[in-house]
Amino acid sequence: PRTCLVTGAASGIGKATAALLRAQGRAVIGADLQDADITADLATPEGRAELVTRAHELTGGRLDAVVSCAGVAHFDPLTVRLNHFGAVATLDGLRPLLAAGTDPRALVVGSIDSVHPTDPAIVEAALAGDEPAAVAASRAAVDRGEGHLVYSSSKAAVSRWVRRSAITDDWAGAGVPLNAVAPGVVVTPLTRPLLDDPEMRGLVERSVPMPLHGHTRPEQLAPLIAWLVSPENTLVTGQVVFADGGADAVLRGDHT
Ligand code: NAI
Repeated sequence: PRTCLVTGAASGIGKATAALLRAQGRAVIGADLQDADITADLATPEGRAELVTRAHELTGGRLDAVVSCAGVAHFDPLTVRLNHFGAVATLDGLRPLLAAGTDPRALVVGSIDSVHPTDPAIVEAALAGDEPAAVAASRAAVDRGEGHLVYSSSKAAVSRWVRRSAITDDWAGAGVPLNAVAPGVVVTPLTRPLLDDPEMRGLVERSVPMPLHGHTRPEQLAPLIAWLVSPENTLVTGQVVFADGGADAVLRGDHT
């Protein structure tokens, strides 16, 4: 069977994706902080190295798909360390295993938040691959009361990294589609505390309007992710696919 590695596999979108891939007959290797085949903290260089080492051990050096879901939404530099640098390290670190796979595909979960205001200092540092500078810019944003910008910036950066990288020799040249899926509001442990708080829920509903079906279950995203990393996807690459109940169309309708 195809062998797929999913980070953030212990909860939410990653868990639903891993379950669907298994139901489709794929062999799935889950990675997470706990409750996974590979336990690693992807916010740290040691954890990122551990992911690659363990993936080699478990697969003999061949992977057919990688789905990077691990992410947090804290008002803290940790958010850029995991959501951008952890995701990039996952995809770049496992790229040699994908190169040895069959019909290899890669995907990262972005966010509708990438279209919200961002902090250019965080985004530019992330795209330059400068983690200390991105952490410093994130800390500065938190200190001036704009901690929410760390999340949107981490997702904008990783989405732009996907668009830039997908068309290079490393990815398109190697025959590997690389995409992002950008969800709206998904009901998971990440958002549950916000949605349970009436004031925060109102804020979320105003900033992420979802005219089609409202808030999402993780199981609604899994089929799109599974298709984008399946052999059937031979054309879609470098895309940030908004799977958001219409939020992107509401927020930036004329941006095509
Ligand atoms: P979740 O909290 O249910 O799952 C995230 C998983 O990542 C957890 O299992 C957690 O243990 C793992 N994780 C956290 N820190 C880690 C670390 N340092 N190293 C390795 N694994 C770590 O969250 P959810 O909602 O499933 O989020 C998955 C992805 O989707 C994230 O990247 C998130 O930013 C993104 N997303 C979520 C949305 C939502 O509304 N829930 C909306 C848009 C994007």
